[in-house]
Amino acid sequence: MPDMDGFREATNFGIGQASQCSDFHVKGASNLSWGMKDRLSRIFNPKTGKAVLLAFDHGFIMGPTSGLERIDLNIVPLVQYADCLMCTRGILQSSIPANVNKPICLRSDAGTTILTELNRNVLIDVEDAIRYNASAMAVMFAAGDGEQEAITAANLTEAVDLGNRYGIPVMGVTAVGKQMARDARYFALASRVCAETGASIVKTYYCEGFEKVVAACPVPIVIAGGKKLPEKEAIELCYKAVNDGAAGVDMGRNVFQSENPTAMIQAVHAVVHEGLTPEQGMEMFNDLSK
Ligand code: R5P
Repeated sequence: MPDMDGFREATNFGIGQASQCSDFHVKGASNLSWGMKDRLSRIFNPKTGKAVLLAFDHGFIMGPTSGLERIDLNIVPLVQYADCLMCTRGILQSSIPANVNKPICLRSDAGTTILTELNRNVLIDVEDAIRYNASAMAVMFAAGDGEQEAITAANLTEAVDLGNRYGIPVMGVTAVGKQMARDARYFALASRVCAETGASIVKTYYCEGFEKVVAACPVPIVIAGGKKLPEKEAIELCYKAVNDGAAGVDMGRNVFQSENPTAMIQAVHAVVHEGLTPEQGMEMFNDLSK
């Protein structure tokens, strides 16, 4: 029992002041549970509402792609500049030191490799995601793929059900169906379906009319970088996406395949969180590359 000696009477009740229940900084998350919000707050900076996720989950479909040959040499030095790490459990367990203290967006599905057409997609055990202390689980949704749309929608639904049970947000990863045009109409549909299914974050691609994609999606959108671009174009892409309402980036190849990945991730971080213009971002990249 606490010692009652020296007990001070409580007096500071703020009578007459409305209870300060500030809105949560992550779009669409105000009604989520405390645990969900805590995990989202580890990913999205409460001061800026934005996030830079470093994506290096490519190996699960591509194998040791360029820039990911040696996670210990290529990725671990970049980890300190990322807000969150997106990777598979195999790479997390084998190659990322557990004391880096970064939230993990765990790639939680597995499918076919680039050697074949997408034909199967399965979820990992949610208890394993918990064991890895995942702050989010990333699961693909292949909108417009006749074979895989329903299977990936079912997987996303199951992931959300499991995530809701344990307070783990799910990121819906929009995979682009081969027959689909990469336009705002398509990305708006794919993103919205992810959110309607219960995803708390959506990863999609930047496109013309992106502001409509963001407006129609009730949860935060982060953009994938896509294939390697010249640094100037990749930095412009980040700027335009954030300017049009993205809550950040989930970027891989444009960071780890950059001529200077350490400078690139810092420039991207500054564009996303500090609102640097593309010119300022490029200047930062060049300065850090000297
Ligand atoms: C795609 O499904 C992969 O999960 C990547 O994480 C994603 O595409 C982001 O990487 P990148 O910026 O290289 O496109």
